[in-house]
This record gives sequence, structure tokens and C-alpha cells, in this order.
Amino acid sequence: MIGGRNDLIKSDDGPDMMRDASTQYVAGSGTAAGIAPISGTRQTLRCNGRVQRMRITILGGAGFLGRKLATRLAKDGALGGRAITGLTLFDLNAPASLPAPFPVTCLGGDVADPAAVAAAIPAGTEVVFHLAAVVSAAAEADFDLGMEVNLHGTLAVLAACRALGTSPRMIFTSSVASFGGGQDAVVPDDGRQIPTNSYGAQKAIGELLLHDASRRGFLDAVNLRLPTVMVRPGRPNKAASSFVSAIVREPLLGLETHCPVPDDFAVWICSPRATIEWFLHAAAMDTAPLGLDRGINPPGRSLSVAKILSALKQVAGKAARDKVGFAFDKEVFDIVKGWPGAFAATRARRLGFKEQEAMEEIIQGFIEDDLAATKAERGL
Ligand SMILES: NC(=O)c1ccc[n+]([C@@H]2O[C@H](COP(=O)([O-])OP(=O)(O)OC[C@H]3O[C@@H](n4cnc5c(N)ncnc54)[C@H](O)[C@@H]3O)[C@@H](O)[C@H]2O)c1
Repeated sequence: MIGGRNDLIKSDDGPDMMRDASTQYVAGSGTAAGIAPISGTRQTLRCNGRVQRMRITILGGAGFLGRKLATRLAKDGALGGRAITGLTLFDLNAPASLPAPFPVTCLGGDVADPAAVAAAIPAGTEVVFHLAAVVSAAAEADFDLGMEVNLHGTLAVLAACRALGTSPRMIFTSSVASFGGGQDAVVPDDGRQIPTNSYGAQKAIGELLLHDASRRGFLDAVNLRLPTVMVRPGRPNKAASSFVSAIVREPLLGLETHCPVPDDFAVWICSPRATIEWFLHAAAMDTAPLGLDRGINPPGRSLSVAKILSALKQVAGKAARDKVGFAFDKEVFDIVKGWPGAFAATRARRLGFKEQEAMEEIIQGFIEDDLAATKAERGL
């Protein structure tokens, strides 16, 4: 069960794809993409003879993490031991669909538009992953856009969840950038959020709003303060931390790149694989032990740029390592220098959030999961 709240949500919201012990599939309404049988013993639960829905929404579903999460949910077909009966993917442009053993609805719209967000979180939605955001350097470059998407967007999501009246679980992706302290900091679990950039401030404000909304029972939030997730596939993005992925990804693509910070600069990082595990755990965990404090610092890893490059050499050889040079960039450095280099993350470990794998495994994971697609995307 999804812990910490009433699991018996009534399902009277029209046809959908359902599965129970006696019915392999009852096909549903229209939007399913490539429904494929799933094997195993997972069952859609019944309450008073009615099939319980397990509807999920991913806002920011076309992004790096949103897409990986959707792919994983489609592969598992279940969350927290319960069969998923519908997934809505929402982004600025409607995300591409994907094959799944449940209907997938793909919607385009602005997360700051209350009507668009309400449509993306239909009645019966139990879990909302709120990943839609303007990332760090972009929010720093355009204050108004950052406020609109990162703050007003989160307010619209809060309102849509509240309107359901069923207190859905909400996983909000906050960030290491919501903290200050810089290189010397090892942030304790109860460390204060004193952001050094607008993106971090917008994330911290969002967290506070969701703490209060959880206390009121409007929703049931878990705010994950994500480390810098590496290795990001595709192209460099507008996050100030984009270089953390670039110093591994570009050499693996056979390309040269420059690191904008010194090699003793420490970053708090995690892998996409670990991040998805944390998302799934946050969605299914019992939130009662969180009490009022809905903020989680997941167990990432603190590594210097030099250590990352040494792991790259170990996995991909000296030629790959030698493709990384250094060219100090004050604009990037001024944003990332305020971010803490390490966290204690004791509470998250106690709450069952999985440990981060070693740097060499992170690089290997990128090679296995994303290198070929990145090469294809970039015509390499
Ligand atoms: N990737 C990281 O290293 C990292 C670290 C800390 C926190 N986070 C947070 O995790 C979340 C996901 O990160 P990601 O790396 O997948 O980012 P991403 O940029 O790949 O995905 C974010 C998605 O949000 C969408 N979006 C932006 N503005 C929108 C709007 N107005 N309406 C609807 N959708 C909009 C974008 O189109 C994009 O697809 C974000 O909230 C980010 O702030 C990421």
C-alpha cells in the first residue's frame, strides 16, 4: 500500500484499463500506447468489489528524469506493489508516448496554468511527480520566468492536488541549490535552507508551501533535495551544474570539453539510476515518520572534479580523461560555489533511501543506458 494515508480511494471515474486475478486486461479509453501483457502476480486491488485506480501523473514528463521515470513505471507496471492503471505525462509540449501495460495520456501545457495542470491531474490520481521546472542558470538569467514556472507552477500543482480532495502523494524535486554553505559545508539533516540563487530560493519556497499543504491534508508531499544528477544524456543544458555531466559525457562521445571550475571543486552528485529508485521509494513509503518535515536530503556522494576524472580514466582510459581541459568560467562558478559540497543524509538512509553507487558504476551505467541514444541524438 501507499503508506501514511487512506489507501481506499473510490474509483468511479470512467473506463480504464483494469486487471485483476480473473481478467487479464479490460482495455480502456483511447489513449493507451502499445498495451503489452505483463507477467507475474501483481494485482489491481479491489475495495468493496470496485477496482482501485493507481493513477500517476508526471509533470515535466518529457525531461531527463521524467522520461526515465515514465520508462521505469512502464517496465514495472506497478508502484509500491500495486498495478498502475493510468499514467499522464505533462510537459510544455506533449511528451511522446511510450509502450506501457496501462493507458498513457500525453498532454502539453504550462505548469503555471491552473486549468492545464488540473487537466493533467484528473480525479483518481494518487501520485504526482512534480518535476517541471526552469533549471538553475536559466532561472538565474530570467528571474520572471523562474518565478512563473518554479513558484507559480508549484502553486498551481498544489491547487490541483488540493481540488482532488484525496490528498495525493506528491514528489517534489527540490535541489541541493536550495542550500548555501559552499565547499566547506556538510549539511546536517536539519540544516537551514539559505539559497544563494533564485532557483534555489524558488525550490525552498515550494518546499515550505508543500510542508504546509501536507500538514493541512491537501496533499502528502515528499520534497527530495536532489544532488546534481550525472551523467545527463543528450546535450549540455542550462543548469549551472551542466559541466558535471559534460566532463564525463563529452569524452565518452569522443569530444573535448572544458571544466569551468578548479579540479579540487567538490560536488554533491547522484546517478539517474539512484534518483529513479529514490522517486519510487518516495512515492510508496510511509510518510507518517516524516511528521511535519517533508524535506529529504537523499544519500548522494561528495566527489571532487579530480575524483570524477580519475574514475573516467579508470573506466574509459587515459585518452578519454585527456579530453577534459580547464577554463575557469566566473558566471558558472559564482552560482555553483555557494552550493554545499556534502550532506550528512542520515535521515534519508534511516527512511530507506538507497545508497548511491560508486562513480565508476555511475559512468558504466551511462554507457549502458544512454551512450548509444546520446550518440544518435547528436549525430555522432
Ligand atoms: N537533473 C539534476 O541534476 C537536478 C538536480 C536537482 C534538482 N533537479 C530538479 O529535478 C527536476 C527534473 O530535472 P531534469 O533534469 O529532468 O530537468 P529537465 O529540464 O530535463 O526537465 C524539466 C522539464 O520541465 C519542463 N518544463 C519547463 N517549464 C515548464 C512549464 N512552464 N510547463 C510545463 N513543463 C515545463 C521542461 O520542458 C522539461 O521537460 C527539476 O524540477 C529540477 O529542478 C534536477
